[in-house]
Amino acid sequence: MSKAKYTVTAALPYANGPLHLGHVAGVYLPADIFVRFLRMNNHDVAFICGSDEHGAAITLRAKKEGITPQEIVDKYNSIISKAFTDFDISFDIFHRTSSEIHHKTSQDFFLKLYEKGKFTEETSEQYYDEEYEQFLADRYITGECPKCQNPSAYGDQCEKCGSDLSPTELINPTSTLSGKTPVLRTTSHWYLPMANHEDWLREWIKEGKLDGIQQHDPKPWRNQVIGQCMSWIDGGLHSRAMTRDLDWGVKVPLPNAEGKVLYVWLDAPIGYISATKQYALDNNKNWEDYWTGDRKLIHFIGKDNIVFHAVIFPILLKDHGNLILPDNVPAYEFLNLEGDKFSTSRNWAVWLHEYLEAYPGREDELKYVLTSIAPETKDSEFTWKEYQTRINSELADILGNFVNRALVLTQKYYEGKVPERGELTEEDQLVLAEINEIPKRISKLVYAYKLRDAQAEAMNLARLGNKYLADQEPWKVVKIDPKRVETVMNIALQITANLSVVLQPFLPATAAKLSNFLNFKSTNWEDAGNGDLMKVGDQTNTPEILFQKIEDSLVDEEVNKLKNTDNMESKFEVQKEEVTFDDFTKMDIRLGTILEAEKVEKADKLLKLLVDTGLDKRTIVSGIAEHYSPEEIIGKTVQVLMNLAPRKIKGIESKGMILMAEDADGNLSFMSPEKGFEAGCGIH
Ligand code: 2FM
Ligand code: ZN
Repeated sequence: MSKAKYTVTAALPYANGPLHLGHVAGVYLPADIFVRFLRMNNHDVAFICGSDEHGAAITLRAKKEGITPQEIVDKYNSIISKAFTDFDISFDIFHRTSSEIHHKTSQDFFLKLYEKGKFTEETSEQYYDEEYEQFLADRYITGECPKCQNPSAYGDQCEKCGSDLSPTELINPTSTLSGKTPVLRTTSHWYLPMANHEDWLREWIKEGKLDGIQQHDPKPWRNQVIGQCMSWIDGGLHSRAMTRDLDWGVKVPLPNAEGKVLYVWLDAPIGYISATKQYALDNNKNWEDYWTGDRKLIHFIGKDNIVFHAVIFPILLKDHGNLILPDNVPAYEFLNLEGDKFSTSRNWAVWLHEYLEAYPGREDELKYVLTSIAPETKDSEFTWKEYQTRINSELADILGNFVNRALVLTQKYYEGKVPERGELTEEDQLVLAEINEIPKRISKLVYAYKLRDAQAEAMNLARLGNKYLADQEPWKVVKIDPKRVETVMNIALQITANLSVVLQPFLPATAAKLSNFLNFKSTNWEDAGNGDLMKVGDQTNTPEILFQKIEDSLVDEEVNKLKNTDNMESKFEVQKEEVTFDDFTKMDIRLGTILEAEKVEKADKLLKLLVDTGLDKRTIVSGIAEHYSPEEIIGKTVQVLMNLAPRKIKGIESKGMILMAEDADGNLSFMSPEKGFEAGCGIH
């Protein structure tokens, strides 16, 4: 039988922040282990990822940081992709959904479904923020979840109970833009009807059959994945809008769709296809080969992405036609940190790029710990204490100790040359049998997506070696029966060589070091299990210490760092990007006196002011009408940004800007000098 072919995807991370260890443990590392294993087993495989650069996650972050969405995605795409490279995650491509090829691919995908009549156009009333002149969908609106009463559910989903929501279901809805209660306005969108898909989805998800034909492996998907999908489907699959009223995203490729973009959860998974197209272009391959025919599509994701990958995207793929549906959707639960949830806003996180900068060369240590505690079936927890224990008492004391003993004794007794094997004792035979069995067990576990157990099984080989040397005590026996020691050391070196093969998917840098020590390298999984990888007389090298022990001081420092950062959930926006002193001095800020003030017609929020700046008398339009009446501000001293480029606001040319203090509820106040300074004084 020919080897199964695979297209493996890892959830496209939003380019709105760096990656933390929770993301790594629950998506990227398991996907990487799986793919490295497939490659060693000669499967044809493409490993696809990239950054997700659309949607409210991006635009809201841009607003918080005071920079444009494009600047946000450029900034975080670069941090994220560098961290992946430094951590040696072996994607075949790390792409971007802001790329041209992605926009074109997702527009074509949309058009194909549109032309096949797979969408319905519906007009409805949706929440609208009058201040920001924007419709509010997804994360632009929060409110109380009608199902679990979580007070901060989003317009599309409650992250607490996992319910799928629409903005109009929220109790006490609030705009995340202005913090105000939105109003209802009419708009029209293209919807994906999903109700007629319920039957085939049930059979396909539970049994892997499509039209009665076995599609994906008969092995069931993870309980959590089946459970979430079934409860979603049992609740009735409602039509879902596939477009949004936004200016950031992939434009809807239809006439009369001005101001509308594709829903981010439509364009993001298509990102897997567009990334594959780019990969194919770069490598002289056909992208269709990865999305059609006899090939397994595997989506590694976090549990909050389940319905998008196991229900909605499969519906889209099926409606599109001629594309494969996922063979499995291994979804991970969440990783917690030191007794609490990872939280970007409270900075309760260990950031991957910061770890890599602080501990260069300790990538495998982190990989080992994260795989050992991976949240495969339930939420799990990362603590620095456990990081230390796993490294010191497993990696260093077992794996490191065994390899070191095997190679140092070989140097000492045989000048590094592999000795001959004599007659085998029962223990030797048991050990050789185990060398043969362990890779088979690892293999079964990896194909079943049980990577945590698979890594533990690989470590069992090191455990076996450690115990074998401890039991055989070659350092004692050498004095009485040196011939026997040759056999023991030969077997110890066979174990070491096998470790250099079976550790590759999990600890690639460590496996490479073992290969260097042994002057032996195989990237073929079939070699694992062979008790004759090292030949008599092969020259080995003096080893270096594989793993440095972790001191208590590191644990203390890291825990203190977490506890001492200001982890308050601030009601205020994050600090903006750093600016240089030169940037700052470019701004001409002065005191001014308001001479005249009047309301601007048809604009509830605007006042037209005439301001004496000490240099001139100029018109400034200011959005303060909800906070001050025209009468009460005549004669007030205010701060004026003088050299802001003039702008036309409601037909009036506004020259400069009045600087205001704003509280978390959006209330505005002038800032006047404490002493009686006059108009024209500079502010520095
Ligand atoms: O949850 C997330 O981080 C999303 N950016 C995942 C997208 S996965 C895929 F569909 F692109
Ligand atoms: Zn809820």
